[in-house]
Amino acid sequence: MAKRKTKTSKVPASFPPVQQGLVSPRRNVPSSIARPPYAQTGDPGPSVLPLVRTQDEIKSMRKAGSIAAEVLLYVGEKVRPGITTDNLDQIAHDEIIRLGAYPSPLNYRGFPKSVCTSVNEVVCHGIPDSRQLLDGDIINIDVTVFYEGVHGDTSVTFLVGEVDDYSRQLVQTTRNALTKGMETVHNGSRVCDIGQAIEKYAHSSQLSVVREFIGHGVGPEFHSSLAIPHYFDRRATTELLTGMTFTIEPMLNLGGHSLRMWDDTWTVVTIDGRRSAQFEHTLVVTDDGYEILTQTASGTIPAEYFS
Ligand code: MF3
Ligand code: CO
Ligand code: CO
Repeated sequence: MAKRKTKTSKVPASFPPVQQGLVSPRRNVPSSIARPPYAQTGDPGPSVLPLVRTQDEIKSMRKAGSIAAEVLLYVGEKVRPGITTDNLDQIAHDEIIRLGAYPSPLNYRGFPKSVCTSVNEVVCHGIPDSRQLLDGDIINIDVTVFYEGVHGDTSVTFLVGEVDDYSRQLVQTTRNALTKGMETVHNGSRVCDIGQAIEKYAHSSQLSVVREFIGHGVGPEFHSSLAIPHYFDRRATTELLTGMTFTIEPMLNLGGHSLRMWDDTWTVVTIDGRRSAQFEHTLVVTDDGYEILTQTASGTIPAEYFS
């Protein structure tokens, strides 16, 4: 049988390939800011907490989520050709601290910076460094903050200057795929419904879905044991219940779904060098649907604002 050819097979690898830059010294967090338990050691330990949050925890998660959304709006405005990903990290770091929160990635399992910046064929967990953004790049900025004892986790993929049609369509489809996944969520729905909706939508646009990185429970722990695949997994039979909090964060690729990691042990790139996009929200399940926790207090959703 002939190898199945998809429409995306003519999409070229992203050029020039993203290369490692210089990582600046570790940034300081004032001692007045409350830190998550791993901030000192880097080790978050095992996930042990229940999946359903208390009303008080949800209140605090609304605040943490709104701070993360504010920071994403603020840093997103600064995205332009010539700025370095380290500059973006500095801007986000300073704003997170100004708002009284801790930048959750900083020293999480030893991660060296305050946000993740993933450019072009970088799928996720890119480390901010001295690389300048180029006209035509796409960049995901993933902001997580710790505030009142809980985390809020959200990301947007931004266009840098004039971006080619394939990449624009990739970004638009990934944004919509997150919405398709969220729309399945309500008390009594199943985890596998989320991935099924995302995968169906991605494949209808000839995009592949990343399998190695998935959404996760979030709350007092950055990553709790609830696992949210973005593809259909028949084993993901867990029933979602009112008060559960988790992320949906699909990564969609212009080429194949296969990945490799750089020797920095963080940066994940597509094997074929084609581009990848991602959007992420933190949600709480409600009786008849879901609430997006990663929106500003006035209801602005960064992914919509920048679309
Ligand atoms: N924010 C990422 C997520 O969506 C996790 C980043 S962990 C880090 O789960 F260590 F890379 F920062
Ligand atoms: Co996440
Ligand atoms: Co994130």
